[in-house]
Amino acid sequence: MSASRCATLVVATALVVATACVAPEPVAAPIVPGGIRVGQDLTTFGGGVACVDRVAARVGAEILAAGGNAVDAAIATGFALAVTHPAAGNLGGGGFMLVRTADGTEAAFDYREVAPAAVGADLFLDDAGGYRAEWARTGHRAVGVPGTVAGFARAHARFGSLPWATLVLPAERLAREGILVDEDLNESLDEVAAQLARNPAAAAIFLDGEGRPPPVGVRFVQRDLARTLRRLAKNGPAEFYRGEVADLIVADMAEHGGLLTAEDLDVYRAVERLPLRLPVFGHQVLAMPPPSSAGVALGQILGVLERRSIDEVESMSLEFVHLYAEAARRAFADRAAFLGDPDFVDVPVADLLADARLDSLAASIDGWRATPSEDLGPPLALPEGTDTTHFSVVDRWGGVVANTYTLEQSYGAKVVAAGTGVLLNNELGDFNRVPGRTDREGLIGTAPNLAAPGKRPLSSMSPVIVLRGDVPVVVAGSPGGRTIINTVGGLLVDLLAHGADPGEALARPRVHHGWFPDRIQIEARPDNASWPELLGALGHDVKLVKRLGDAHLIVLDPRTGERRVLADTRLDGGVAVADPPAGS
Ligand code: DON
Repeated sequence: MSASRCATLVVATALVVATACVAPEPVAAPIVPGGIRVGQDLTTFGGGVACVDRVAARVGAEILAAGGNAVDAAIATGFALAVTHPAAGNLGGGGFMLVRTADGTEAAFDYREVAPAAVGADLFLDDAGGYRAEWARTGHRAVGVPGTVAGFARAHARFGSLPWATLVLPAERLAREGILVDEDLNESLDEVAAQLARNPAAAAIFLDGEGRPPPVGVRFVQRDLARTLRRLAKNGPAEFYRGEVADLIVADMAEHGGLLTAEDLDVYRAVERLPLRLPVFGHQVLAMPPPSSAGVALGQILGVLERRSIDEVESMSLEFVHLYAEAARRAFADRAAFLGDPDFVDVPVADLLADARLDSLAASIDGWRATPSEDLGPPLALPEGTDTTHFSVVDRWGGVVANTYTLEQSYGAKVVAAGTGVLLNNELGDFNRVPGRTDREGLIGTAPNLAAPGKRPLSSMSPVIVLRGDVPVVVAGSPGGRTIINTVGGLLVDLLAHGADPGEALARPRVHHGWFPDRIQIEARPDNASWPELLGALGHDVKLVKRLGDAHLIVLDPRTGERRVLADTRLDGGVAVADPPAGS
């Protein structure tokens, strides 16, 4: 996104403030002039936001400059991303927000989508019992009750310091005035254009009469979304669940055979949970408990690697990749066997993270030979989604937020609820799709993650906050479906076990193993073409891939008070920092 677009944003803010006395609508906060810098790797003694898009990062930084805390800025960034990064930023999806305030209060907000009341474990089976893979990806059947608005509202009620409308209105303005289409937006829309074309409400917004996305450089306005955001700003979050926006969503569902009803929206609640605390490499990693698998899986991967002295193994050496893949393989086997929505299944979190379990997993790794995944359980595999987004926030007082949210796949179910401008998720596709059937072709049928009314599908989203002593030192997360866990896991090994420079840790090729398919994925680089052969000699199947994840990171130095705010550049991410007010 261009610098001129950022300038436009500041001017537009001033205009909203200037006209506030005549407009009946809620008004945006006054923006402190100056003090905001935008880039991809910046240091500050103030606050900052790292995310996939620098316009949205700037929205968050402006909230910080206006006196907001990290939760305020996270909410404003999250609403802005729903406009600037519609592939994954959302109102119609869900996610997880991890918070640690400046006074040390910790919270994990679970705003994962839930299954509507009419959903059963046979959700993706037709009348003849046949599995309909396309129902899990596209169209109204895969839509879970969206949690994002309720999650942001819950975090705001607990920790917000600026008015709700102040956090929604910057996004409203971006939707109303338009954003400049960049290559990422154009290309991501192009990839799903054929599917969006099947839904008239989506096609009317994202495609022209010929079915093509808006070209790079044009201004892209989202009028219906602006109206929805205006109503949310004015009427509060209940508008989404019980107001006119809810009515429009329900009508759209009814028209297209969706299962979500007014009652489902009405009863949806975001949940505040206790973050898991994982003691690894002399730090405490705060991570999401179920229904995200992240905390348990990261606890196992990092705990096993610590027991195998990964701190003494050179990053991205043959031994390192082998040990990492073996630790991940084992954690993903336990994930499939035990993890699901804790409101529906007993998840033995303490046992899975106990020393005895980690010791035995670590001891079961052969130092120079791959363990076939089948030795750890039956074959199974899950397709990876292609779009989610993470942002990290720090405020000037040292409060931090790690937020990952998603529509599941890129542009979710590829449907918009007519009249709302809101893209809807296909998150129900994260449930195990055919009960009892597990195979090599991509089906998993284990019990803990079967669909049921009101149940949350198991997630891999992994927002993390790392403490040293009692002080936050790292805020991180990433998209990437199940690969998320390994993107974040690898980053934490580099930062915590090896003390790597944050920029180098972000840039190094990433490694993923998910138990099944029984294969290591490694990001391709000019110098690692020989990985398949080298790791093949240890019994591994290796696939070199273009990209794994898109992590956005903040590293805090407790000695100097400096914060380094870094965007992953794999998707041209951006950061914005709000330097401390002069004299503070
Ligand atoms: O919750 C999950 O784990 C998935 N629905 C996330 C999807 C995802 O990361 C796709 N993005 N790259």
